[in-house]
Amino acid sequence: MRAQLILALETSCDETAAAIVEGGRLVRSSVVASQHELHAEYAGVVPEIASRAHVERLVPVVQRALDDSGAAWTDLAAIAVGHRPGLIGSLLVGVAAAKGLAWSLGLPLIGVDHVHAHLYAAELTSAPVPNSPTPSHPAPPPGAGLFPALGLVVSGGHTVLYDVRGPLDLRRLGSTIDDAVGEAFDKAATILGLPQPGGPALEHLARSGNASAHRFPVSRLAPDSLDLSFSGLKTALLYAVRGTPGHPPPAAPPDEPARADLAASFQRAAVDALALKLERALDALNARGAAPRRVIVGGGVSANQALRRAVATLAQQRGLEVSLPEMVWCVDNAAMIAGLAWHRLNAGLVDDLSLCAEPTATC
Ligand code: KG4
Ligand code: ZN
Repeated sequence: MRAQLILALETSCDETAAAIVEGGRLVRSSVVASQHELHAEYAGVVPEIASRAHVERLVPVVQRALDDSGAAWTDLAAIAVGHRPGLIGSLLVGVAAAKGLAWSLGLPLIGVDHVHAHLYAAELTSAPVPNSPTPSHPAPPPGAGLFPALGLVVSGGHTVLYDVRGPLDLRRLGSTIDDAVGEAFDKAATILGLPQPGGPALEHLARSGNASAHRFPVSRLAPDSLDLSFSGLKTALLYAVRGTPGHPPPAAPPDEPARADLAASFQRAAVDALALKLERALDALNARGAAPRRVIVGGGVSANQALRRAVATLAQQRGLEVSLPEMVWCVDNAAMIAGLAWHRLNAGLVDDLSLCAEPTATC
C-alpha cells in the first residue's frame, strides 16, 4: 500500500473542516471550525450564515491542517472535497476552494460523498506521533476490510442503511421517510429546553432519567420495510411535554427529573427503532445469501453511548464484527473525506474541474 497524503476539505453544513490523512487511514491532522455559536439563536442552521462563515474560515483552517501535519504542499498526492449532499451554498465554498488548490498545485481533484464518508470514519486512526518524518503504517482496526457489511449512517441530515460491499460499493437498503434521527434528537432537545446541538445535550440529560417512564412509539412501518421514521416519536414527546391537542396543557412545565425521564424514554425509543431496522436488514441480507460479516455505523449520532451499546450487543448476538468510529470522527470532519478519497484515488476515480456541488444524495 502506498502511503499517499491527501488533503481534504469539508464544508457541507455548519463545520468548516480540513484534514490530511496518510494512506487512507492515519490522520496526520484534522481541524474543525464549528459554527454552532453563529446559529444558536435560530435553533437550526441558517444556510446563508453558514456559507459566509465558510468563506471567512476555510483558508486559515486549511493552513492550520497543513501546519499541524508537518507536511508541505509538495508532499500532497491529491485534493479531496465533500461535494454532496449538503447545503448548496456551503458545498460551493469547499468545492471552489478544492478546485483552486488542485489546479494551482497540479494535483488530482477527488469529489467524495459526505454520507458514504461517514461510513468510512470507523477506519480512521489518530496520528500517534504528529510531525513524524517517517511514514507510519498502523495496523488495521479489528474487522476492517471485512465485507460484505451492513452499514448504518445516523447523522443530522441522513439516516440510511446500506449493503456495503467495499468502501466504494454501497447499495442503499432503506432510509428515513421523514426526519433524520439526529434531527429528531435536535428537535427533541429544543422541546426539552436544551441547547443545540441537541443530541449530546439530550444524551447527557437522559443519563439521570428512567428510560421506562414513558412508552414512546418505536416506528416499524410495513413488516418488511427497511425505511425508518422519527416524526411520530418527536410528536409523541411534544404531546407529553405540552399536552395533546384538544386537552388542557399540563399545569406546569416538567421539572428536571421529569425532563430527564422524557429524554431517557425518547432516546430509548430512537435507539430501539434503529436496532429493529438493523435486525431486519441482517435478516433480509441473510435471506438473500449476502450475509454481512460486520456492522459499520457512522455519523454524529454514532457518538451516542446507548446506540453504541445496542449495536455492540446486536453484533455480538449475531456473531458479527462491529466497526464504530472513535468519538472524534463521529461528527462532521474532513479526515473521513480524505480517507475515502484515498480509495477513489487508487481506483483511478478522480474528477476534473467540472466537479459539481450536489445538494442531494444519489445513493
Ligand atoms: O454527522 P453530523 O456531525 O452532521 C451531519 O452530517 O448531519 O451529525 C450531527 C448530528 C446532530 O443532529 C447531533 O445532535 C447528533 O449528530 N449527535 C448526537 C450525539 N452527538 C451528535 N445525537 C445523539 N447523541 C449524541 N451523543
Ligand atoms: Zn455529516
